[in-house]
Amino acid sequence: MRVAIGSDHAGFEQKESLKAHLLANGHDVVDVGTGSEDSVDYPDYALLVGREVAGGDAEYGVLVCGTGIGMAIAANKIVGVRAANVTSPEFAALARQHNNANVVAVSGRFVDPQVNEQIVDAFLATAFEGGRHAGRVAKISDAEEHRGRRG
Ligand code: RB5
Repeated sequence: MRVAIGSDHAGFEQKESLKAHLLANGHDVVDVGTGSEDSVDYPDYALLVGREVAGGDAEYGVLVCGTGIGMAIAANKIVGVRAANVTSPEFAALARQHNNANVVAVSGRFVDPQVNEQIVDAFLATAFEGGRHAGRVAKISDAEEHRGRRG
């Protein structure tokens, strides 16, 4: 699987370990940065990963910042991105099963690296269930298309 990954300074250390974990599991990884713990702005990296996923260059995206919250908010501004801020493997699986999320945003400061590895593994291994969830996700896509103005 081709996975785009990015972080800010607060997520840098875990981004590096998650990248190594993904590579060890045979995934192709596109690392958009950041490259150190020097302070940067998380939206820059969220938008880069979002564009990789929305443009089809990567199937999924992984984002790491202090909480994962800012990354998810920013990535969701890219049309076609469904980013979920996740703190447990169970929510990671549900984000795929019910929401067809294509980006997972995790916390580098409040969640242990081993748990974040489990989150990313669950996210990548779980399929969208479709069925009754497909119409609900389609409503989100419709709203996105119309910038939330109707439908
Ligand atoms: C950086 O201090 C922090 O605000 C950022 O990593 C993230 O948690 C934002 O949502």
